[in-house]
Amino acid sequence: MSQLAALILSALVVASCYTDVSTVNGRALFPVGWMFSEREEPVTASNGMVVSTDELASRIGVDIMRSGGNAVDAAVAVHFALAVVNPEAGNIGGGGFMVTRMADGTAAALDFREKAPLAATRDMYLDEEGDLTDKSVIGHLAAGVPGSVAGMWAAHQRFGSIQWEELVSPAVELANGFEVKERFLGSLSSTMVESLSNFPASAAQFLPRDGQPPLVGDTLRQPYLAKTLGRIRDWGPGGFYEGETADLIVAEMERGGGIITLQDLAEYTAEWRDPISFTYRGHTVISMPPSSSGGATMAEMANILEGYDVGSMDWHGPRMIHLYAEAWKRSYADRNHYLADPDFVDMPIDRITSEAYARVRASTISETAATPSIEIGPGMEGPAEGENTTHYSIVDAAGNAVAVTTTINSWYGSKVTVTGAGFVLNNEMDDFAAKPGTANQFGLVQGENNAVAPGKRMLSAMTPTVVANPDGTLRMVTGTPGGGTIITTVFQTISNVLDYGMNVVDAVNAPRIHHQHLPDQIYFEPAGLDPETVTQLQAMGHTLFERTGMSGDAQVIIVDGDLLKAWSDPRRGGQAIGY
Ligand code: DON
Repeated sequence: MSQLAALILSALVVASCYTDVSTVNGRALFPVGWMFSEREEPVTASNGMVVSTDELASRIGVDIMRSGGNAVDAAVAVHFALAVVNPEAGNIGGGGFMVTRMADGTAAALDFREKAPLAATRDMYLDEEGDLTDKSVIGHLAAGVPGSVAGMWAAHQRFGSIQWEELVSPAVELANGFEVKERFLGSLSSTMVESLSNFPASAAQFLPRDGQPPLVGDTLRQPYLAKTLGRIRDWGPGGFYEGETADLIVAEMERGGGIITLQDLAEYTAEWRDPISFTYRGHTVISMPPSSSGGATMAEMANILEGYDVGSMDWHGPRMIHLYAEAWKRSYADRNHYLADPDFVDMPIDRITSEAYARVRASTISETAATPSIEIGPGMEGPAEGENTTHYSIVDAAGNAVAVTTTINSWYGSKVTVTGAGFVLNNEMDDFAAKPGTANQFGLVQGENNAVAPGKRMLSAMTPTVVANPDGTLRMVTGTPGGGTIITTVFQTISNVLDYGMNVVDAVNAPRIHHQHLPDQIYFEPAGLDPETVTQLQAMGHTLFERTGMSGDAQVIIVDGDLLKAWSDPRRGGQAIGY
């Protein structure tokens, strides 16, 4: 074959691949100018898979499974590793949620969300005029009582199969020094450097070059974190909630006007809860119940949309986006009003997640015109940008599946590093309705149910999720960060697969949209919608808003026959590793 013929042939092969994977219902999947390629191959493996925001952490999880650990063992090791290599979001100073579906089909949900300190009060973030301050976002008062160590311990106690010490040790090693990569540096913008500089222990740990970030290739050493992790390795939760670490946390509080006490730490417990379980297109979706809003809100939107033949609609065409937005508005209106900590508030969870209620909600949706949000519920401001939480998904050789979303809320949480203990404290208190009816940093306007109270968990949107096929086999593990956008992003990864048959790469790389009831806007990512679709949606009465940043950082595994196929969101770039 001549060189020219070979060139033409290879161009045709590329073009036909392109056509195969980049159209759904005959329509281009990715609009012109969209920044991710749809031509990439997923990471595949036959035994086990870890997909997380960091290659080193994913590798540690795989090593644990190779040496006989199960998916929960791997999750514990990944969690502690992320606390070292993604200190902007991975954590021991924060909290999160774990959803498991074991190979025998049994599911569990672990709530290790932070709690308000016992000295917290409803109006602690208001000034004398009753206006909101920034104290729920930055500084010592922003921190809730951390839940991650208790959560990992509870998960290990129930499901772990190898020694706790073996799961924490790799993180201790990493804390003694790891090589800095771009992703970590991406979290250290000039504004972040300025914020961290106000807290000496944060500056000393994360700005080691004379108050500036390290460079790619530098070794970042976190000796105090290594010591704290060493205590956790040796004594389990006692190495965090009691003794030296607890003393250091309380000393930090006293230094900066915070209110977490030894009693708060000693009394913290993680809770096992009944997962939210619902069906979508015949598949069982298992997700997180309150104190996360994720599962219940996603159930409502899925139940509403199940009444439409979504898969026959143009993907990201005006009709599909209109119906998604209408379903989401109604679901978020309910989320913001009803959902909160189940240990404090009675909630109509059964009703919110029922198909009958979805039919009632859907009955007010017009096919042709947007319902103004003001006719559905209260108002709010726009969502802030930035993905500052972290999610990891794991499947082991036996078919056990684990989804964990964990956070310190903002990047570097409260910006406060515990002096002498080397970890950042969360600013999760901002997820409460610090002033009910007023927007938090994600633009979510939440009600009285989610007001601050001592010992209460703040409502989350985190949505770690496992999906099973109609025959009971495992189909998918998914989750993402993204504040208020988490629930719609997780739903889109699922709908992309179940409604549109996308492979894991396309399901993750595809542009995302979002609506959270108020403000009454459909958000889309930069160049994420074609202009013609925008115009048609506007004609239906929708307001469209092109974000300057991306939505989410999904980490997804799909089971395809005997193969596990995984993809880490290129929006920030993590790594799937299998074996
Ligand atoms: O629990 C929540 O819903 C939030 N604290 C999550 C924060 C998050 O995803 C940060 N990313 N934008």
